[in-house]
Amino acid sequence: MGDTCNIDLERIPAHIAIIMDGNGRWAKQQGKPRSFGHQAGAQTVHVIAEEAARLGVKYLTLYTFSTENWNRPEAEVTALMKLLFDQIEEETFMKNNIRFRIIGEEERLPEKVQERLNLCIEHTAGNTGMTMILALSYSSRWELTEAARQIAVEVKEGKLDVQDISAETVEKHLSTSFMPDPDLLIRTGGEVRLSNYLLWQCAYSELYFCDTFWPDFKEAELRKAIAYYQQRERRFGKTSEQVMG
Ligand code: IPE
Ligand code: IPE
Ligand code: MG
Repeated sequence: MGDTCNIDLERIPAHIAIIMDGNGRWAKQQGKPRSFGHQAGAQTVHVIAEEAARLGVKYLTLYTFSTENWNRPEAEVTALMKLLFDQIEEETFMKNNIRFRIIGEEERLPEKVQERLNLCIEHTAGNTGMTMILALSYSSRWELTEAARQIAVEVKEGKLDVQDISAETVEKHLSTSFMPDPDLLIRTGGEVRLSNYLLWQCAYSELYFCDTFWPDFKEAELRKAIAYYQQRERRFGKTSEQVMG
């Protein structure tokens, strides 16, 4: 739990996106194999999901495995898929009223993992608290390319007029169409880049980067990121005077 005095519970970001980075370096620091870091990282997911739900976050999107991560050594990819399979259990979700979803190229995941994920999605579909979304085999360029392809098909089939294509049309075809854009994007692990994550959706997100490796990112770190968010003035292209009303 911990204290929440430095954050305003009335202004909690509705959608927090997290690039969970630094598992490998965290393990290396202790002379352990990278897989040890991934296991520790999985524990952090449970801690952060519970805390976010408790604070009233509505959507939590976690970058778990990128399209580019398929290029890692085969043994690491296999270990990550096994970890994913083992870690998807409904207990944390049911206990915290969390609805579970995924985004990404699901077909590329091992069949057993897909089955496990889909069962969890089904079983938690009735939960009404926070929605937690794992981005798996996800990248923005994959997603936007898919959207372009689907829109082209609709035009070709005469279901959509080229003149009617708008930003909303694109949004409707993204895998994130069921959620609002992130208010806050957090990246742990010290790198200051987006690594192909939610590029369209983060157009107006507040960005928070910290050096803490993901396995060490616990409740207090999350609250620190939210406190940072609450100090920003979101102008969306307007002037400060306009926003202040
Ligand atoms: C993030 O940690 C987890 C995944 C990308 C799967 P990393 O594995 O990238 O850890 P570092 O960045 O090498 O420390
Ligand atoms: C981003 O981390 C992907 C995930 C956290 C799942 P990476 O470790 O793959 O990013 P880069 O390669 O350092 O940009
Ligand atoms: Mg990394």
